Amino acid sequence: MRELRNKVAVVTGAASGIGRGMAEAFVDEGMRVVLSDVEEAVLRSTTAELRDGGADVHAVVTDVAQVDDITALADSTLRTYGAVHVLCNNAGVHTGSKPSWTSTLDDWAWVLGVNLMGVVHGLRTFLPVMIEQDEEAHIVNTASMAGLLTGGSLYGATKTAVVSLSETVHLELVEDGRKPRISLLCPGLVNTGIYLSGRNRPARFSDAGPFPDDWSFDAARKAFEEFGVRPRAIGDHVVRAIREERFYVLTHPEYEEHIRHRTRQILDGENPTLLPPPGR
Ligand SMILES: NC(=O)c1ccc[n+]([C@@H]2O[C@H](COP(=O)([O-])OP(=O)(O)OC[C@H]3O[C@@H](n4cnc5c(N)ncnc54)[C@H](O)[C@@H]3O)[C@@H](O)[C@H]2O)c1
Repeated sequence: MRELRNKVAVVTGAASGIGRGMAEAFVDEGMRVVLSDVEEAVLRSTTAELRDGGADVHAVVTDVAQVDDITALADSTLRTYGAVHVLCNNAGVHTGSKPSWTSTLDDWAWVLGVNLMGVVHGLRTFLPVMIEQDEEAHIVNTASMAGLLTGGSLYGATKTAVVSLSETVHLELVEDGRKPRISLLCPGLVNTGIYLSGRNRPARFSDAGPFPDDWSFDAARKAFEEFGVRPRAIGDHVVRAIREERFYVLTHPEYEEHIRHRTRQILDGENPTLLPPPGR
């Protein structure tokens, strides 16, 4: 989609972090943006800040794990702007890196509900609208480098699922001759508050302990601040990928060696090993 001006974008998890970075990049392209997030106070303040800067934006409180919320998000978008051209399935949470088998079923239910079912709900609700519009449209699914590499425990499992699902949807759209296109966003470390994901954990999922269990919050904050890319830079990558109709959006070239390492191990029949994180 080359022309973005006046087009309508919907971003989930848009109150902060990468979602906010995408919303800012879209606003700078002259798009109308629907910001959705489960964290209402931050959603309201982010939307107000963008509006004060002259942006045409609309806020909808949404829990992506709830299909009714996504239906309401689509309804509100169409009522407000009459169409939808870009959807970013971005909301995501992280529970830490304790061994997979010690994660509780509540950990699994929460992370799968947001990171995987949130994307499924977005695709099932918005793609039929985009196909019906029969105009250029684009979906961006936020996975992670964790979806392309070995490891990552339950977080990695959800992100690997988003990679596979997105690749499938790309093939289906192209083979069916449909107009919407899709991109898969796989960032490395970005300076956001994802290590504080527990702030949005619903009470119905009992909390098994602090995140990350093997780091202190101070160490996590330091790592994200020291090594994390600015969220707005990720938004700029996404704008370029939409313009180029590019599927794979890799924002951290320093992980190239890690992807090659994993691919080589698969092809050579070697058991998985990890390379140290880049720069450390
Ligand atoms: N920060 C990183 O290093 C990094 C790297 C790769 C991928 N990602 C992915 O990027 C996406 C955004 O994460 P971030 O790093 O900006 O973290 P973040 O915590 O700053 O932002 C996530 C946003 O999603 C919202 N959210 C949480 N649960 C939600 C729900 N159920 N429904 C709707 N909104 C919800 C939060 O309120 C928050 O505004 C996630 O999918 C994450 O897995 C992050």
